[in-house]
Amino acid sequence: MMPLIDLVAGARPNFMKLAPVVHGLAAAGEVHFRIVHTGQHYDPLMTDVFFEELRIPPPDVHLDVGSGSHGAQTARIIERYEAHVMERRPSHTVVFGDVNSTVACALAAVKLGVPVAHVEAGLRSFDRSMPEEINRVLTDAVADLLLVSEPSGVANLQREGVDESKIRLVGNVMIDTLLAQLPAARERRTAARLGLDGRRYGFVTLHRPSNVDHPETLATLLHLLHELGRKMPLVFAIHPRTVHAATRMNLGSLVAAGQGELLCLGPQRYVDSLSLLAGAAVVLTDSGGLQEESSVLDVPCLTLRENTERPVTVTLGTSRLVGSDPSRIRAAFDDVLEGKWPHGQSIPLWDGKAGGRVAAELASWMRRPLSHA
Ligand code: UD1
Repeated sequence: MMPLIDLVAGARPNFMKLAPVVHGLAAAGEVHFRIVHTGQHYDPLMTDVFFEELRIPPPDVHLDVGSGSHGAQTARIIERYEAHVMERRPSHTVVFGDVNSTVACALAAVKLGVPVAHVEAGLRSFDRSMPEEINRVLTDAVADLLLVSEPSGVANLQREGVDESKIRLVGNVMIDTLLAQLPAARERRTAARLGLDGRRYGFVTLHRPSNVDHPETLATLLHLLHELGRKMPLVFAIHPRTVHAATRMNLGSLVAAGQGELLCLGPQRYVDSLSLLAGAAVVLTDSGGLQEESSVLDVPCLTLRENTERPVTVTLGTSRLVGSDPSRIRAAFDDVLEGKWPHGQSIPLWDGKAGGRVAAELASWMRRPLSHA
């Protein structure tokens, strides 16, 4: 059988990781691949725009799974990806990150004897209340090739007893996308177009269940953002999940468009998000991706979580864990305003070349005899 890789993506943070691997494989020209979109995210601003902006070819296969509870969504992805594999069997499957699509397609593939590679393997928050942590642990347990973005990932996998021969430290593919898009992002001057020309501002995102699913926590955070916005304007790019949660909890007025010094916007295109981030004086976020991106751009990052699976963003990068406690967040915000924030240092292998390293590892993996077949 002619080797053919399925590259599987489904949710917004997957696409920035998929793009450099697609470009790396296309440049090497050694491996045939197909893009499979699960449809976990489906609003155009959560998916289509990324394909256009990042020059990813349109998906070869669309599973159209949509939203649902964790069980329902994961089950639907497993069922539909399994049917696809049975009909048009790939020789290998590559999954990205830690979303439900990642674990679902990994499980469907390995059970049919298709070996799986995991890009962004080994990250651990050690917090099993996070759905992503479950997805990470399970995906790594069944993957055959573990492509790791930062040294903690290698240590975690070693501690879990994973065979060394499966582990490769390749760096962070998402930073390839960032570096490639940065000039265009700066040219877009998104903050200026929002009326913030020449002003210091902060950039905010919030979507983790731990922050947005509990009415008290969400209300506290939204009131705090309004308060902090009065010290320095904040641009809040709001995830649909957060809008739905706020509306359900009668907090919709706090995230309605406009809002003076807390500028509430919908999800942003990648270049606009990057433009806002690159020009920001501070980021407040619970996103893993933004912790990494702000570290590379040397923008102080208040991480609204108690833990992180990306510890290098704290040790070498610009991230500080502040949880959801207003007094900690306020104190960190004031540190930024007073210029008391350490600069980020460069992070090994976050150099814009990770996609090429992943492509090379995939090519050599495909030449190895199949361990699962
Ligand atoms: C998912 C990932 C999370 C990632 C985030 C980035 C899992 C478990 N979580 O969370 O790790 O950080 O993506 O965005 O996979 N919705 C829309 N339109 C869409 C997609 C979602 O309105 O295109 C709304 C729906 O109400 C949906 C909710 O957002 O029920 C949650 O979507 P889901 O894909 O389940 O998880 P995310 O919160 O987006």
